[in-house]
Amino acid sequence: MKALILAGGAGTRLRPITYTRAKQLVPVANRPILFYGIDSMVAAGITDIGVIVGDTAAEVREALGDGSGFGASITYLPQDAPLGLAHCVLIARDFLGDDDFVMYLGDNLLEQDLGAFVDAFETAQGGADPPVAQILLKQVPDPHRFGIAELDGDGHVVSLVEKPQDPPSDLALVGVYLFDPTIHEAVRAIAPSERGELEITDAIQWLIDAGHRVRTELLTGWWIDTGKLTPLLEANRLLLEKIEPRIDGKVDDESTIDGRVVVEEGAEVVGSTVRGPAVIGAGARVIDSFVGPFSAIGPDCQIVGSEIEHSVVMEGSQVLHIPRLGDSLIGRETVISRSRRRPASLRLMIGDHCQVDVE
Ligand code: DAU
Repeated sequence: MKALILAGGAGTRLRPITYTRAKQLVPVANRPILFYGIDSMVAAGITDIGVIVGDTAAEVREALGDGSGFGASITYLPQDAPLGLAHCVLIARDFLGDDDFVMYLGDNLLEQDLGAFVDAFETAQGGADPPVAQILLKQVPDPHRFGIAELDGDGHVVSLVEKPQDPPSDLALVGVYLFDPTIHEAVRAIAPSERGELEITDAIQWLIDAGHRVRTELLTGWWIDTGKLTPLLEANRLLLEKIEPRIDGKVDDESTIDGRVVVEEGAEVVGSTVRGPAVIGAGARVIDSFVGPFSAIGPDCQIVGSEIEHSVVMEGSQVLHIPRLGDSLIGRETVISRSRRRPASLRLMIGDHCQVDVE
């Protein structure tokens, strides 16, 4: 079994952050989203991993290297333009060979272990009426944002439709798919959709129409497609809830650490309160501040005389004398400062290398 992880694409919905950074590398709980996907592949015993890369290839390569840091071996597969999820399978043909594979969308995060999902597919392959593919479904409140499956009374998938205006059900396709080599025939047979992409939903529909069996599994744990601000902060919250508390940096006597908190090596907390779940990255300094629940402060940040809650602040940024910063996503090397001591409450999504002065 191999893995194909998709880390190309454009990421327009997280602009301006994704002008300068691959959306799959935006950190949640201080780790790039993509790392969690690779970890769960390796945990499921899949170490031969192909990664589709686009415009942000250099950055993705730098972050993942040859995969050995994850216990995996990574092959990079460049995609000239984001021509669709099925196009990714098309260009990965040589890498995938005739192996079965898991396709994993690099901006998806799942609570559930992939191992059980892979085992269920392999077991079903050994039985009567073996499936050629397996999809993972989850009920969602906003089905028009996803690929949607329609099932018959026996729970068999009869049709799939990508981001329908009039959804036939509320069962969304989660970004984890299992395929046997039959999918290669399907991705060659389909034509681009109205939005000009080779859709994986159309390829799976082709499998169904050709009489093949597509197995479904219902996801029980949480699942987040991190492509937008609110789900990204939600993912940050869910992952911070699971961190193991650890103080490797310095916390002075005037400070209080409360609950599930990680203070990384070289970080300093001075005259401040950090209320978890929260993480303070390596080399960060938190001075005369309150860092509240669900905050991830990146490495080498400076938080001075400020209050932060439910936010992601990326590497090297400074938040100076801001009375309240909440529900925010702050890019790298950004400075947010206030010159006059008037109340200010900020909710921001700002990119890298910005300067925000609150008068
Ligand atoms: O998150 C689940 C949804 O993902 C499914 O319900 C949909 O059926 C599926 O089409 C997909 O929809 P998105 O609109 O969220 O896909 P997105 O364009 O965000 O691409 C998903 C990942 O694949 C992302 O990490 C970028 C990467 N990608 C995407 C395209 C279109 C590529 O590497 N190459 C591509 O050509």
